[in-house]
Amino acid sequence: MITKIESYINDCKHFVAAAINDVEPFRIKYLGKKGIIADLFEEFKNVPRENKKDVGQKLNELKDIVQEKINEFKLKFEDTTSSLEAIDLSLPGDPVKTGTRHPISIVRNEIIDIFKRIGFTVSEGPEIEDDWHVFSALNFPAEHPARDMQDTFFIKPEDKILLRTHTSSVQVRVMENSKPPIRTISPGRVFRNEAISARAHCIFHQVEGLYIDENVSFADLKQTLLFFAKEMFGEKTQIRLRPSYFPFTEPSAEMDVACNICGGKGCNVCKYTGWLEILGCGMVDPNVLENCKIDSKKYTGFAFGMGIERITMLKYGVNDLRLYFENDIRFLNQFKASF
Ligand code: DAH
Repeated sequence: MITKIESYINDCKHFVAAAINDVEPFRIKYLGKKGIIADLFEEFKNVPRENKKDVGQKLNELKDIVQEKINEFKLKFEDTTSSLEAIDLSLPGDPVKTGTRHPISIVRNEIIDIFKRIGFTVSEGPEIEDDWHVFSALNFPAEHPARDMQDTFFIKPEDKILLRTHTSSVQVRVMENSKPPIRTISPGRVFRNEAISARAHCIFHQVEGLYIDENVSFADLKQTLLFFAKEMFGEKTQIRLRPSYFPFTEPSAEMDVACNICGGKGCNVCKYTGWLEILGCGMVDPNVLENCKIDSKKYTGFAFGMGIERITMLKYGVNDLRLYFENDIRFLNQFKASF
């Protein structure tokens, strides 16, 4: 009988429960009413007296081992089941923060999208430019104040290499490198030697527009800009063009949109005029066309240039330019990109 009990002991020692469900059958097999141990105790009654002590000890040993195994596996599985219960696997996971597009990028993409819909391509040029593309080809007289060190960051003053002060330089490059019809917009960064404040910054973004073909008129310019204003600020948006001056356009104008904050009634944003200036524009000066080897007798065209920061300010009510560059995520998180 001792060998039989020892073989049970051996079996028990090697018992491994793969899951909590394996523990109860094991308990019943050994400790159940009709289990192995109950049978062995039945048998024990017939063990001769002199052997009772040894057999009894072995039997108790078996009982202890069975109990230990049951406890061991109960503990193991109870632990994991209780922590499994604490985790609700049906709950959604922690969201992965993907960040948001910068408001300047959102508005730039929206401007590109609007002009693409009426056939404009996108072209880009270098940020480090020469005097010709930024000033001379655009009909700036030699003594024009914009060339002054106050406004322009010169990289190599002796070679007249500088950071472009406007994206109008790209229209020169496009005209030099392609033939009309030309219909393009040029978004990009520009640089001016300005003191940083809520209303001015030394780095900002512009979008330049250029349309050159036969018979392009001021009416085309006005309709194009009206379409843009309505798409950008809403169907009811009104525009007005005021005469202005730029060396590279003749005639030149500045365009205002009706203030979308007060609806044109007058408020501190529009300085109680009801209008907000958003861009400069005009018919490309024949001198500029000729500088770029385009026949000014055959072709006419219009150009316009707008500041992306300004449009973004008006669209979203941002009142300080510096916010765009501070990378404060509390500011940036407020802009949800549809572009
Ligand atoms: N380049 C001008 C600026 O930086 C903006 C501008 C005005 C661009 C009139 C144009 C234009 O193409 O026709 O202020």
